[in-house]
Amino acid sequence: MNKTAIYPGTFDPITYGHLDIIIRATKIFDNIIIAISKNKEKKPIFNLKERIQLTKKATLHIKNIKKVLGFNDLLANLAKTEKSNILIRGVRTIFDFDYEIKLAEINKQIYPELDSIFLLSSKEVSFISSSFVKEIAKYNGNVKPYLPKEVYTALLKKLHKKYLS
Ligand code: COA
Repeated sequence: MNKTAIYPGTFDPITYGHLDIIIRATKIFDNIIIAISKNKEKKPIFNLKERIQLTKKATLHIKNIKKVLGFNDLLANLAKTEKSNILIRGVRTIFDFDYEIKLAEINKQIYPELDSIFLLSSKEVSFISSSFVKEIAKYNGNVKPYLPKEVYTALLKKLHKKYLS
C-alpha cells in the first residue's frame, strides 16, 4: 500500500534544516506532501504563494514529493482531505519535543487515525531556524550556508525591498 505522509510547517523560508527532514522522510515513505500553513499569526515575510513557489523550487530535485500545497485550515482536516494519516515533524531539541507532543495529541483528538512521526534533525542543521536566518540576513550576515540558492536570492531581494526601499 502506498504510504503518503504530510510534512507541515510555515516555511518562511524553507531552509536546509527543513530539507534534511524532507529528504530523510522521502526514504521512509512512498510520497510526501509538503503542506505550508498560511500562519498569519507568525507574520511571515514571504506570502503563502511565494513560500509555495520557493519550496517547490528548493525540492524540485527530490523524488517522491507528491505536491507542495498551501493551507489555511486545521492540519488534521487537511490530512483527512489529502487521505493521509501520517504527519512528519522534525525535532531539534527537547524543547521542541514538549510542543510537538501537545500538537500531536491535539491532532489525534481531531482525527484519531492521524499519527505523528518524529525525525531528529541532523546535528549540522538543527540550529537553523527560519527566524534566525532572517535576523542574520537583515543585518547583512552571511546566510548562504543555510539556504538553497534560489531561497537565498529571494530572501536578499525581499529584505532589500523591505528595509532599503
Ligand atoms: N531544522 C531546523 N529548523 C527547523 C526544522 C529543522 N528540521 N524544522 C522546523 N524548523 C524551524 C522553522 O524554521 C521554524 O522557525 P521559526 O519559528 O524561526 O520560523 C520553527 O522551527 C518551527 O517551524 P515549523 O516546523 O514550521 O512549525 P510552525 O510552528 O511554524 O508550524 C504548524 C506548525 C504549521 C504545523 C502548525 O502551526 C499547524 O498545524 N497549523 C495549522 C493549524 C492547526 O491545525 N493547529 C493545531 C491545532 S490548534
